[in-house]
Amino acid sequence: MSARMSPSLTVSRIAAQQGSVLRELRTASLREAPYAFGETLADALQVDPALFDATASLQANSANAATFLLYTEGHPCGLVNAFIEESEAERAFVSALWVAPAVRHLRGGELLVNVASQWLAEQGASEVHAWIAEENRTAVRFYERLGFGPTGDRRAMPANEAEPEQLYVRHMQVNRDA
Ligand SMILES: CC(C)(COP(=O)(O)OP(=O)(O)OC[C@H]1O[C@@H](n2cnc3c(N)ncnc32)[C@H](O)[C@@H]1OP(=O)(O)O)[C@@H](O)C(=O)NCCC(=O)NCCS
Repeated sequence: MSARMSPSLTVSRIAAQQGSVLRELRTASLREAPYAFGETLADALQVDPALFDATASLQANSANAATFLLYTEGHPCGLVNAFIEESEAERAFVSALWVAPAVRHLRGGELLVNVASQWLAEQGASEVHAWIAEENRTAVRFYERLGFGPTGDRRAMPANEAEPEQLYVRHMQVNRDA
């Protein structure tokens, strides 16, 4: 039997002073997986680094938006955003999910999406949505394994008009005993 051990993976909400960590993870994700996101690396590199501090502070404290970071042995190695849309429907979303290649297939992605979904449920969401690029078969399989299914909604990716993405949704269990 293999003696290879999985590194321990943990997730916690971003802290207000982690703007530089956010910038590092975000640019790493856009560099490594540009096909997956509605923003380009060039967009992210143009943003004043000080704005990442403001974003981290917001994502740490807001009731409508949060970023969760994945750590392996204390090192940041992934992230996901969770937010509630500013519209009457108030739909809940996870977005910008990324796990560093060195720690993939260890359920870090699952941990990130589950912690983010749980937080959204605590804010009142009964469904969690995600836009997934059609060509990103890995992400489609990943989300389907977590219980997300297609809603039938389709749109062009914000950063790439030629690439369609599809809206997926997962229904959260509501604890009616509470
Ligand atoms: C999608 C992603 C976050 C998954 O992270 P992860 O930590 O490896 O996920 P988990 O270990 O929780 O789950 C992995 C599961 O996802 C699916 N999966 C992951 N990589 C896969 C691949 N290369 N091919 C097929 N399925 C894959 C499988 O169901 C896999 O299960 P397995 O490990 O038993 O084979 C990661 O691959 C990633 O960051 N990809 C690039 C960015 C991206 O596509 N983000 C999503 C944007 S919508």
